[in-house]
Order: sequence, then structure tokens, then C-alpha cells
Amino acid sequence: MRMYDIILKKRGGQPLSPEEIAFFVDGYTKGDIPDYQAAALLMAIYFKGMKDWETAVLTDCMMRSGDTADLSEIPGVKVDKHSTGGVGDKTSLVIGPIVAACGVPVAKMSGRGLGHTGGTIDKLESIPGFRVELSRREFLDTVKRVGLSIIGQSENIAPADKKLYALRDVTATVDSLPLIASSVMSKKLASGADAILLDVKTGSGAFMKTQEDSIALAKAMVAIGQHNGKRMAALVTNMDLPLGYAIGNALEVKEAAETLRGHGPADLTALCLQLASEMLALAGKGDPESCMGLARQAVESGRAFETFRAMAAAQGGDVSVLDDLEKFAKAPCAVQVAAPQEGWICRMQTEQCGIASMLLGAGRKSKGGPIDYSAGIRLYKKTGDFVRAGEPIACLFTSRPGAVPEAKEALLAAICFSKEQPAPEKLVYARIAPEGVTRM
Ligand code: URA
Repeated sequence: MRMYDIILKKRGGQPLSPEEIAFFVDGYTKGDIPDYQAAALLMAIYFKGMKDWETAVLTDCMMRSGDTADLSEIPGVKVDKHSTGGVGDKTSLVIGPIVAACGVPVAKMSGRGLGHTGGTIDKLESIPGFRVELSRREFLDTVKRVGLSIIGQSENIAPADKKLYALRDVTATVDSLPLIASSVMSKKLASGADAILLDVKTGSGAFMKTQEDSIALAKAMVAIGQHNGKRMAALVTNMDLPLGYAIGNALEVKEAAETLRGHGPADLTALCLQLASEMLALAGKGDPESCMGLARQAVESGRAFETFRAMAAAQGGDVSVLDDLEKFAKAPCAVQVAAPQEGWICRMQTEQCGIASMLLGAGRKSKGGPIDYSAGIRLYKKTGDFVRAGEPIACLFTSRPGAVPEAKEALLAAICFSKEQPAPEKLVYARIAPEGVTRM
């Protein structure tokens, strides 16, 4: 078999056979197929797509490229959740503790920031001392003792995805349905959970920009999970504006802690409660309404915050920063951004908001590059708010004052003003389950 022929076949729009897909995944993971041929095939897939069964085979090959986590010694139904990535998306930090506080174990492997989107693992590392690399024993013991552990994806979980993702990131082939579906589901299937909730982001800050594409992606991933014997559901949620008001690692952990204490922003709180109740329902804790009640109670009673604190302590984190959020390291440079005109904020180019935060140091400029945990953006106003000219709309935090002008320009360019009050934003557009799609 030759890689050249496989590229040519897909370039011509023909489906690849299971043997050809396996040849590509194995060869690329082992280093036998060079980046330039893999990149050419990814671009051909980007333009020509894949049949559902090809995507399922690709997912399976990627999952089998490494180990599968065995969570069987943790009693109960293990539920995982995965977001396709957004700006200000700190939901895992809030939902994991809520679900665990309701008695459903959460053994979660998460990723680092990617492109304009943030990553849970980078956020957790902004808690001084927090260890995201635990041995298998420590991971399982933490879940058994605390109910929750969040760690980085171990080297050998879907290594094919690790290599392919890094290549997609630099070859403009991220936003392709079969490539996202196989990337997400290969990792999730290898992570060993019994049930998986997918948060498929849609809009200007997401990889999928339209609701129809996002629903199609959600359907494909739910079908793959169900085919592999997992309990599955997906919500298609709004990423046309940042979630909450904080963008950047430590800023987001602080906002997540406030949300767990019951004082979070309305949109973040409502979305986290909805996602948590979906996870509880997947774990068999009851119908959606009673699960929503359980999730609310976990926050109101303080149990969810205590679970987050206990996980941080178990993973070596300095919990004094969670007890007093003022103790988080502060960026040496804080610059207010004023509204250039009066009006309603009617739209935010959310990807640009993520890029502005990255420019301040909250994201990586190159693979494996450093992160400034205290850097990022605190928004004061978002889509739907009225502002007067000169009123502060955001504060930029950074250790690199030289980055401020470009970040400020990017943020201001991302915000559109109107004389008309815009319609309120929806949080959730659709729910996808094996039974079908419910639009909201
Ligand atoms: N998240 C993933 O894990 N993979 C993708 O391809 C996109 C988002």
C-alpha cells in the first residue's frame, strides 16, 4: 500500500477502505509516514469529507493507537464530559465538582489550550503546586477518596490524536467534522468512562461556526459513542460570546471558584447546572428535572466547592488561593479598555477575544511554549449590554506591557456596537441523544 495512492483516492472524493485508514494511522503514529503526506491527506479529508463509517473506522484506529484506561475498580457509573473548545470555557472546573458532590465519580483527562481556545489543564496549573500528572494509582485513589480527579491526558491515550492534532493545528485542518469527531471520540473512548456528555460549541468562538454544522458534528459523535456501547448525549451551546467574564487561566479558575460558591456569572452558572444535570441523568440519577435539583443543591450546600478544594489539595495544590482568591498571583500590568462609542454591544467576534488573551500571554504562541497564568482579560461588558463612550468595558492583565497595544486593538476590533438593543442570546440550541435531536 502507498500513501501517495491513499491521498490521490481521497483527493478524488472516494471513500478509503478500513485497511487504508489503518495503514495511515499506524504509519503516521509510528513515524513511518512523513508530516507532508499526512498533511496532504488531512487537507483532502477537509475538502472531500468522510462517510460516517469511514469516520467510525478512523476513530477506532486512533483509539487503538494507544492504551485504554481501566476505571473498573471505581464503583458506579463513570461519566465524562468533553467540550469542543471555546473562549472563557471553564465549565469542566465547575461541573466536575458538582457531579462528584452528587455521588457520581468523575475521572477526567483533559487537554491544554489549543489555538484561540483555553485548556482545563493549563487553568488548573495556575493553582500553585497543582499536579496534572499523577500515576495511575494516584489518579484512581483520588477519584475513590474525593470523587473527582482531573489530570492531563497520559502519553499513551490516543497518541495518534496527539500527533494528528498538532499537525492539524498548523495546517488549517482543525475545523473538519470527521477530523474533530474522530479526535474527540478516540480520546473519550480510550479514557474509560461509561457515559459521555459532549458540549459542542457553536459560533464565532468555536471551531464549528454554524448551528447546522455543530448539530451534524454532535450527531456523528453521539452515534460513534453509542456504537461503542457508551451512554451518550450532546448539547449544542452558544460560543458567539465568551462564557462568563474571565478569559485566561488564573482569572478563569477564580471565576469557576466563585461559581461553585454560588456567586458566578448568570450564563456560566446556568450552563454548568444544565451540563451537570445532563451528566447526572446519564449516570442514572433521575430525570433531568430532579438532576437539576441535585446539581443546585450541591452548589447551595457548599459541597461542590468543597469537592473542588479537596481535589486541589489531593493533587498538591495550594488551597489557600481558593479560600482567598485575592492570593492568586496578580499580573504586574493591568490596563483598562474604554468603550470607543456609546451603544449596545450587539456582537463579539469571540475567536478574536481568545486571540487577544493569547497575545497577553494566556495562551501558547508555539507548541509547548510557556504560559503566563495571571494573563488574560476580565470583561465588564458583553453582548447585550449598553455602554457609554469612555466607560471601561474590559481590563487586560499581562506581564508583558509591550503586548497591550496589539491585544487592545484585537479586543476592540472584536466588539460591534449598535443603536438597537440586540435580542437576548440563547445558551443552548439543541440536545442530541441517540433518540434524536431536540431544538431549544
Ligand atoms: N477538541 C478536540 O479534542 N479535538 C478537536 O479536533 C477539536 C476540539
